[in-house]
Amino acid sequence: MRILLTGKNGQLGRCFQDVVAVSTHELFAYGSSELDIANADQVAAIVAEVKPDVIVNAAAYTAVDNAEQDQAQAYAVNEQGTANLAKAAQALDIPVIHVSTDYVFDGQAVEPYKPSDATNPQSVYGASKLAGEQALAAFCTRYLVLRTAWVFSEYGNNFVKTMLRLGNEREALNVVADQYGCPTYAGDLAKAILQLCDRYQATQELAWGIHHYCGDLPTSWHGFARTIFTKAEQLDLLKNQPKLTAISSEQYPTPAKRPEYSVLNCATLTELGLLPCCWLDALFACLDKLVDTK
Ligand SMILES: NC(=O)c1ccc[n+]([C@@H]2O[C@H](COP(=O)([O-])OP(=O)(O)OC[C@H]3O[C@@H](n4cnc5c(N)ncnc54)[C@H](OP(=O)(O)O)[C@@H]3O)[C@@H](O)[C@H]2O)c1
Repeated sequence: MRILLTGKNGQLGRCFQDVVAVSTHELFAYGSSELDIANADQVAAIVAEVKPDVIVNAAAYTAVDNAEQDQAQAYAVNEQGTANLAKAAQALDIPVIHVSTDYVFDGQAVEPYKPSDATNPQSVYGASKLAGEQALAAFCTRYLVLRTAWVFSEYGNNFVKTMLRLGNEREALNVVADQYGCPTYAGDLAKAILQLCDRYQATQELAWGIHHYCGDLPTSWHGFARTIFTKAEQLDLLKNQPKLTAISSEQYPTPAKRPEYSVLNCATLTELGLLPCCWLDALFACLDKLVDTK
């Protein structure tokens, strides 16, 4: 099957290339310099030229705090860019697999969010991603949105790599302990998307609409940091574990407000046989890869 991938240089984009490399699919992967999804003409031209069987959109404006000041660019990519892909896909009857975020929710829930739960983004990033979901629904018929959370990998910038850097630079660190979510390894998300592609190839059908896919066990950023440090020390990625202090979100103000609780209920995919990934196993494997590249 011919798969068109946008955002090939991001965490998910790179992991998706890794998993497709050992599949039978033919991948047409583009970075932002080759395919700017905010450019409608370019999107239409490349989609028409490649004529893929499915489009996987891993491109997004993901700088959550910068988006508060850079609203126009966040919407240009996350809303307009998604709309451009949706229109180009619809013109050729191609399904789109798109990725969204837990930050579409306000974090006031007391149990894991289901895909059908009311959204109420608290940040420009979250609102722009929600606008992207709505653009997909408005402009194309066969789309699948996977909302995910707290993405990490051996590639790019993410919480795991930030903690390793800070842990090696500092003796003590304060980390927020009152925000809860599910870490998700980009490689697991990439595998889940590939499984969906396989399924589409076999049946020409998918459970179109919005689903949730994230790591299996909720934790706080503080809990996540503790786990990272413990394992990183065993692997010699850290000289010593820094003293870790739990703080509140109030003590660590950021330009963008984050949801306090953004645990996602992944049941709609579990019912289809796509199980949430074990983020702890994935974290250990990811840290092993970082040892190899040290
Ligand atoms: N990271 C997280 O914690 C997290 C959490 C929840 C959901 N998500 C969602 O998961 C998906 C993948 O995230 P990620 O962590 O892989 O993001 P990432 O590492 O920041 O990668 C995003 C990619 O999008 C590309 N991009 C930006 N603007 C573009 C444009 N106009 N046209 C084409 N490409 C463009 C960037 O390319 P350049 O760098 O070349 O500009 C970058 O490689 C996104 O939809 C994100 O919203 C992420």
